[in-house]
Amino acid sequence: MQIFFDFFAYVRKKQYLCTRKGLDMKKRIVILGIESSCDDTSAAVIVDGELRSNVIASQKVHEEYGGVVPELASRAHQLNILPVVDTALKRAGVTKEELSAVAFTRGPGLLGSLLVGTSFAKGLALALDIPIIEVNHLQGHVMAHFVEPSEELRAKSEEIKHPEFPFLCLLVSGGNSQIIRVKSQESRVKRYMPEMEIIGQTIDDAAGEAFDKCAKVLGLPYPGGPWIDKLAKLGDPNKYPFAKPNIAGYDYSFSGLKTSFLYTLRDMLKAHGVETVDALAEQVPNLKEDLCASLQATVVDILMRKLKRAAKDLGINRVAVAGGVSANSALREAFVDYGKRYGWEVFIPPFSFTTDNAAMIAQAGYFKYLDGDFCPIDAVPYAKTTI
Ligand code: KG4
Repeated sequence: MQIFFDFFAYVRKKQYLCTRKGLDMKKRIVILGIESSCDDTSAAVIVDGELRSNVIASQKVHEEYGGVVPELASRAHQLNILPVVDTALKRAGVTKEELSAVAFTRGPGLLGSLLVGTSFAKGLALALDIPIIEVNHLQGHVMAHFVEPSEELRAKSEEIKHPEFPFLCLLVSGGNSQIIRVKSQESRVKRYMPEMEIIGQTIDDAAGEAFDKCAKVLGLPYPGGPWIDKLAKLGDPNKYPFAKPNIAGYDYSFSGLKTSFLYTLRDMLKAHGVETVDALAEQVPNLKEDLCASLQATVVDILMRKLKRAAKDLGINRVAVAGGVSANSALREAFVDYGKRYGWEVFIPPFSFTTDNAAMIAQAGYFKYLDGDFCPIDAVPYAKTTI
């Protein structure tokens, strides 16, 4: 019955939009999504709600610097954006003339990087005389759970389970650690884009940043999260008891953990009379593996404890995870484990939708298109913003 009502509302909305914009009602809704907030240039195409392509060009240029260099990121976006968009359109089997709207990440992120995607979206939309749709990057990550891959893409990826409302989403990336309450918008007219509210967030560093900085101290390449994950599989998670924060409410803190990790290493270097981590590793068997396993276990414990408290207090038992750090194997296992222990229905995205991608931006764009939520052509990107 609900499906029938949803479909009816969809047709009515499409009819309304088409009348307003003088478009052909029978025409497909084709959304191009563009993501350029950090160091991934990505474009995706959604046709009538179905993801047809999702192309990502990751920038390798930052590896040797141990972190993203903003100026290099913008230059790489400039080089990548045209071929990435072109490939996304071709893979989706659509021409640019068939596009209904261009959705782009307006922020938060690196200003120079965002400027490339925003300017490209505006230029293309102006040339094609179609609307642009701004997407908040953080909301985009949550929307990854609503992507509906085409049959062809489904064959290459895991299934994406769509959560019902309300649900909690733990958003963990290189720049954010937040608990978001997601619910349907309270409005007389059906709204497709849900309402999101941050109920807890980091007061200093993000979980991904803690992984990346600690990995750098160990001499691991950037981004360090996947390396920590890999080494942790060979280590003892209880070997090094790092400090855990004691923060009120549902907020997080990871700067103390970073310091605790650094001091543990500093004290060991001193005790063994060596100056480098590699020299220490020759004396202490399994050093890096045990440090990584202990760090990872501490991060996961910090994240899950607050999430558990929020789910209990708010009486919500649908819990999702999103963002780059949701690729972490221990965090994914913890979700499954908590799900079993506390009766949660858990939503874990396929790996390809954890890190930055344009499919999630196109999905948010598709919902906003159905809601008639367009933005002015003079919209400028923003480096910092909340949901
Ligand atoms: O969402 P994302 O691609 O970019 C933004 O920050 O917006 O997240 C990148 C973060 C990096 O900090 C990276 O180290 C972390 O995600 N990451 C991981 C893993 N894969 C990526 N952290 C832990 N374990 C992983 N397997």
